Amino acid sequence: MEKEHLRSQGWFGKKGKDGFIYRAWMKNQGIPSHQLQGKPVIGICNTWSELTPCNAHFRELAESVKNGIYEAGGYPVEFPVMSLGETLMKPTAMLYRNLVSMDVEESIRANPLDGVVLLCGCDKTTPALVMGACSVDLPTIVISGGPMLTGKHRGKDIGTSDIWTFFEDNRSGTMSDEELYTAEACLARSKGHCAVMGTASTMACMVESLGLSLPDNAAIPAADSRRKALAHLSGNRIVEMVKEDLKLSDILTRKAFENAITVNAAIGGSTNFIIHLLAIAARIGVELSIDDFNTAARGVPLLANLQPSGKYFMEDFYYAGGLPALMKELQSHLHNETITISGKPMADNYSDCVCYNRDLIGTLETPFNTTAGIVVVKGNLAENGAVLKPSAATPALLKHTGKAVVFEDIDDYKHKIDDPELDVGESSILVLKNVGPRGYPGMPEVGNMSIPKKLLDQGVRDMVRISDGRMSGTGFGTVVLHVSPEAAVGGTLAVVQNGDVITLDVQAGILHLEVSDEEISLRKAKLNLHGNIVNRGYTHLYQMHVEQAHLGADFDFLKGGSGSKVVKDSH
Ligand code: FES
Ligand code: MG
Repeated sequence: MEKEHLRSQGWFGKKGKDGFIYRAWMKNQGIPSHQLQGKPVIGICNTWSELTPCNAHFRELAESVKNGIYEAGGYPVEFPVMSLGETLMKPTAMLYRNLVSMDVEESIRANPLDGVVLLCGCDKTTPALVMGACSVDLPTIVISGGPMLTGKHRGKDIGTSDIWTFFEDNRSGTMSDEELYTAEACLARSKGHCAVMGTASTMACMVESLGLSLPDNAAIPAADSRRKALAHLSGNRIVEMVKEDLKLSDILTRKAFENAITVNAAIGGSTNFIIHLLAIAARIGVELSIDDFNTAARGVPLLANLQPSGKYFMEDFYYAGGLPALMKELQSHLHNETITISGKPMADNYSDCVCYNRDLIGTLETPFNTTAGIVVVKGNLAENGAVLKPSAATPALLKHTGKAVVFEDIDDYKHKIDDPELDVGESSILVLKNVGPRGYPGMPEVGNMSIPKKLLDQGVRDMVRISDGRMSGTGFGTVVLHVSPEAAVGGTLAVVQNGDVITLDVQAGILHLEVSDEEISLRKAKLNLHGNIVNRGYTHLYQMHVEQAHLGADFDFLKGGSGSKVVKDSH
């Protein structure tokens, strides 16, 4: 691309008062004039925050990106956007994903940028940044922060997925409070995001399989020096991408999305993947529906033996060959010709890769598990769909009929779950309402609700659980999530009553409430749906505009993009 065609020259190349103002204030940072005279200006969109521990090392990572940009002849400008820390934010980081996507979109478009590097790590930061960037569609590279080193506790490898077991063990008395306390310091022992195939790692694999990052982005640990080298190389590459005018929309084709779905099945990726990928597709204008998640990955087995579906950690995954080695095994299921940020076919990322640990990365002939992917189930209890991750479930429960034990909302659940009088048995189905996008609001990760204490004491460790909420990507169990329509908008979930019989048949793709249509209609007519709308601020905007989970839970007015053009000046 010629210098005069650079988008940033619409600011820095201007004559007159506007150009003067655009340049003069940048110079207060000690920038010599030549930096603003036709070099590609690359934004480094940084989700660094000490309130997002998983992204707290990003200032450092940004320096490596800058070095790469300078080296390739570009001019880097780092800018912050709102960060989303999964562990601290109440009521849930997901409430703010769409807000951050707006921050990112507007920050990119409004500023003199020719290309963007997105620094993301903790769960929601990745989809939020990619969604926002898609709505502008400049040349863009994603760099993930990388996973933490594997936790070590009393001779055992531990990671986020162990938290769920720790607390069941603590409640049932097999793990002491003191042991819990020491585990706290051992679990998150280095910089980086969750060390298992939770949502953050899933998102890192998603961007790599979509073609939006350099190979190995998904698994290099945050603490490994090669993460910085990858950031440096990404800085090099983004400058070239600007010259080639290689934009997000050139990479994010329908086939790229199908690749991501296939890879997600083979890695045992998080159920949150569905929501985020649907939202991203809608931003870039690619047709993708929830049903595609059942079809695109058909026949793909689980290759990765990673927690929570298996035993290893992300660090081990990198040493085993990482995502490229896994994608090489998957070649016959992938569109190998889709192009990536390199401008070259996807296959170039993995054709020469070697796997160093066959116990971690299986082959199509000898996979880790023949059951893979995320299954979409439908029926009168979820007309638009609900999802379940079979590899994290108990096989015997994948076809199950049981009586509902209903919790009207999360407070009702917390109040009743450990009540010894609760009428519940191991074949019961726990139903939690009003934890959907509009209902909670923000669709929190409470879908893998804990088992009643009295059943835990009997040794029960899994039950069928159904809700309109989400589950942490690190969670497991026979958990039906994302029921759409949600209870708060009058979905059938809202009218399930204690004792109603529910059938789940994952193989057949069915989630059915054994109650007649007439009775369901009668119950729905009595619903009062308007009790829970917050009347001001961002939460109000969210509740008024959030779409249902099967569409990606984005705002209805954010679909598509507005491009990168801004015709009016500011003075
Ligand atoms: Fe940030 Fe798990 S809490 S990735
Ligand atoms: Mg999470």
